Amino acid sequence: MTAYIQIPDEILQVLKSIRSGSSKDRFGVISRSRFIESSVREFLAKKGGETENSGIRVIDLGGNSGYFSYSLLKSNLVDQAVIYDTNKNYLEIGRVVSVLGGIENRMQFKQQKIDIDFLRDKLLKSDIILANNLFHHAGYLFDNDVVEREGWGEYMSQILEIFHEKCDFLVLGLGFKESLPKFWLEPKFFYFADSRANEFEKIINGSKWNLATFARVDEISTDGKAQKSTSLLDNLPKVLISQIDLGLKFIIRLRAWFEEKTGVALRTRNNTRTHKYWIYVLSKGS
Ligand SMILES: C[S@@+](CC[C@H](N)C(=O)[O-])C[C@H]1O[C@@H](n2cnc3c(N)ncnc32)[C@H](O)[C@@H]1O
Repeated sequence: MTAYIQIPDEILQVLKSIRSGSSKDRFGVISRSRFIESSVREFLAKKGGETENSGIRVIDLGGNSGYFSYSLLKSNLVDQAVIYDTNKNYLEIGRVVSVLGGIENRMQFKQQKIDIDFLRDKLLKSDIILANNLFHHAGYLFDNDVVEREGWGEYMSQILEIFHEKCDFLVLGLGFKESLPKFWLEPKFFYFADSRANEFEKIINGSKWNLATFARVDEISTDGKAQKSTSLLDNLPKVLISQIDLGLKFIIRLRAWFEEKTGVALRTRNNTRTHKYWIYVLSKGS
């Protein structure tokens, strides 16, 4: 039957670009999705001894094409999902995927710019909120004024407070990069052992939320479990790590300078970026 299908060229181009994008998974979407699934399963088990959905709704902020929600729906952990994103193409792709997966009546896709006012005044209450790899962009993509005025840390405390009013279970993914989040702490190390993930842990501990677990995306295995890998670095003195770190920073900057001047790309093609991304699981109560 498939041999008979003729697809217009422009659509084929879109399908090709989706295929090449999703074949790399540079941002650890698959491992994060498994991690989210197993965290939600634990949350449901604690909530009422349930492991299957009973009208549970998930809201996915900056949800792109809804990969995480799709997998929660398909594994029957939740009943309904609402995906918010600013990008209408991502949402459209998600809608098509939901139809192909036969769950279009359980997924809603909404084009919406998330900001603190929307979250406070308009976001519906829900059992679960996912907000992955969105809030480290606050301060230049959205909520620019408030983040610059209050600082990103104080801003995130307010976001956590709002989320506490809106849901029982929150999965927050954040990237700590050299230049992001803006208006916050300077990274202590450039490449290794960036202390900001632990600084953010302190912000959570100062909120009403209970931090169930958090992990570096790199350290989530394919079965969705987070395991801290013990590397050689753990046994080296900090001062030595910082020297290696400085060396790496220099090499990476030199590479970027060379690429910009010559137009020659030196980067390896399949580089993943997961070592700078973290995922935090927050629940109410203990
Ligand atoms: C880095 S991607 C993360 C996608 C997905 N949540 C994940 O973790 O893989 C950020 C997504 O947020 C969307 N986005 C950026 N700013 C937004 C905003 N203010 N409101 C809603 N979506 C936003 C982008 O279009 C993009 O799909």
